[in-house]
Amino acid sequence: IGTIVFENSTEASKAVAKEIADLIKAKQAKNEFCILGLATGSTPKGLYAELVRLHKEEGLSFKNVVSFNLDEYYPMEPDSINSYVFFMKELLFNHVDILPENCHIPDGTLSKEAISKYCREYEAKIESLGGIDIQILGIGGNGHIGFNESGSLKNSKTRLVALDHITRVAASGDFGGLVKTPRTAITLGVKKIMEAKRVILMAWGEGKSNIIKEAVEGTVTNQVPASYLQEHNNATFVLDQAAASKLT
Ligand code: F6R
Repeated sequence: IGTIVFENSTEASKAVAKEIADLIKAKQAKNEFCILGLATGSTPKGLYAELVRLHKEEGLSFKNVVSFNLDEYYPMEPDSINSYVFFMKELLFNHVDILPENCHIPDGTLSKEAISKYCREYEAKIESLGGIDIQILGIGGNGHIGFNESGSLKNSKTRLVALDHITRVAASGDFGGLVKTPRTAITLGVKKIMEAKRVILMAWGEGKSNIIKEAVEGTVTNQVPASYLQEHNNATFVLDQAAASKLT
């Protein structure tokens, strides 16, 4: 596991956007799809802004990109302002030339009975395209990646999960209070994240510094799912100075 520390999150986001853009272009030259695993939340906003800028100002095309988002609240309507569908459209998809049919986000409208089959198919689609080329991650205050909360196993599959209290508290501002905040979500499992050819976990700010230390320097444990990335052969933590401040 590598860590790279940038002066600030803007510089860090630009560097990550450049790595993604370079891979998209290299794949274009070979007539191949580029498979991106994408995250939501506050952390990747600067990354998406830079990717939009690269499209608008430098002609970067997303025509050969296929994306798979990590997670979606359940239940959730796609046109809700709290949905990750809405988030991705607002911050990225509506501003670049990615094909709508190439954008995948777990479906928050399924019946409970339909979820496990849907999750198997979500993973099968990723596999049929040859797996994720670059997986973008943020990290929860409890060390979650996607919505793989503490206790998630290394071989966990894509599934419906119960959100931790701390995760719901963090989201409650968006939902107008804890009681209105979803209790469950569909998340890509740890196994598919670990199978990605390249993993980039981004974290900004002092508030993430303790969990970053645990994830990078602590023992590998299901209590901190991000610590599994210590066992990935091509994972990098991209940090600002504040998030890195507790590392030895
Ligand atoms: C979002 C996701 C979550 C977030 C994490 C950090 O798709 O999978 O794991 O990355 O909760 O959220 P922020 O970036 O808002 O601090």
